[in-house]
Amino acid sequence: MRLRVVGAVLLSAAAYYVYVPLPSGINEPWKLMLLDALLRSLMQAGDVAHSLGLCHRAHLLNQIVYWVEVIEAQSCSAVNVTDSVLGGMPARIFQPKKGKKLKRGVIYFHGGGWALGTARMRTYDLLCRKMAEDLDAVIMSVDYRLVPDATFPTQYYDVLAASRAFLSPQVLDRYSIDPGRVCVSGDSAGGNLAAAVVQELSADDSLTVKFKLQALIYPVLQALDFHTSSYQQNQGVPIVYRPAIVRFWLQYLGADPALEPLLLANNHSSLDQPAISAQTRSKLDWTALVPGEHKKNFQPLIRETGTPEVLAKVPGLVDVRAAPLLAERGVLARTPKAYVMTCEFDVLRDDGLMYARRLQDAGVTVSSDHYEDGFHACMVFSFLPMLSDVGQRSMKNYIRWLDQNL
Ligand SMILES: *[C@@H]1O[C@H](CO)[C@@H](O)[C@H](O)[C@H]1NC(C)=O
Ligand SMILES: *[C@@H]1O[C@H](CO)[C@@H](O)[C@H](O)[C@H]1NC(C)=O
Repeated sequence: MRLRVVGAVLLSAAAYYVYVPLPSGINEPWKLMLLDALLRSLMQAGDVAHSLGLCHRAHLLNQIVYWVEVIEAQSCSAVNVTDSVLGGMPARIFQPKKGKKLKRGVIYFHGGGWALGTARMRTYDLLCRKMAEDLDAVIMSVDYRLVPDATFPTQYYDVLAASRAFLSPQVLDRYSIDPGRVCVSGDSAGGNLAAAVVQELSADDSLTVKFKLQALIYPVLQALDFHTSSYQQNQGVPIVYRPAIVRFWLQYLGADPALEPLLLANNHSSLDQPAISAQTRSKLDWTALVPGEHKKNFQPLIRETGTPEVLAKVPGLVDVRAAPLLAERGVLARTPKAYVMTCEFDVLRDDGLMYARRLQDAGVTVSSDHYEDGFHACMVFSFLPMLSDVGQRSMKNYIRWLDQNL
């Protein structure tokens, strides 16, 4: 009897922990809830270890990733998989064994808030393997350095170095990649890095080979407004919550974590900030850049007065290499044809929608792929045991777009 009571209490506690109210548009809600509960408990374990001074939360989380998710480079009948080095950075390289002699090529940057993950994770390994096989393309998945061992601009320079190496005649030749058919891609923080790198390299006239395409999967692109309509709409939607993004940003920019409430309140982008011009504001004005069906009736939060000294302390907040949405129109105009994937239930939805719109306004051809039932990071969860229907659909469409355009 006592055991049953204890069991019932534990079960309700677990159900209470797992349950989060979800918008009705989300399919397979229980899968998302379980995934969310798992991630939340890991994050909380990380927070406890962090506050006890045992280790940095990112170190603990990455250690768990290593135990659970990292797999060896293993070739299969269709794809030769090797761990190598690209521009000084470790990279997992996927080469189709058969097919055409001259291949298409993709350089890929994984997500994880500039702090978590690796190209050697099972999910990214499976994604790149599938891309290599389905596209008959060489895929190079790069391991840039992570928070807390590295902060901005190290991650940016790491992927820039890898990208320059990828586009070099030596590497293209060695891996039989067609210089006219190369793409840069990434998801989430990897999408941020891909956007930043392609802006830099498209403007570099010394390069003989340029990217033909950029493919950005639910990218994070700005840190000045944490009250866009998607931040407001989705702040309570798993698996990435509003404060978590602010925390990732602060860690990436090497800033004091105590600034979190200030950024959450948009106090860092108040109108009394001399470092933010009206022109800069217009680049992330979601009231103008996001279509009505998405922004609904949400109202912007623009403070008259805030904390002006914060931008001097954290200059990365207005650095275009960290926040590619802040790029000038002329810079965007030189970047290649783009694919931008966004999810309705994602705080970062508007970052992607605004970027797609600004690219288009600059004359770039953009394919926008929006998932009404999508959530942040869904494409990574397209394999067992975390297989989600929208994840699989989004991955299929992403690969199809690459196939048709690269
Ligand atoms: C796989 O790729 C590596 C590096 O390019 C190469 O040395 C090796 O011979 C390849 N193996 C097969 C089975 O093709
Ligand atoms: C934001 O700025 C206002 C006005 O300067 C101030 O009253 C408020 O305490 C600030 N909030 C945070 C969280 O820093």
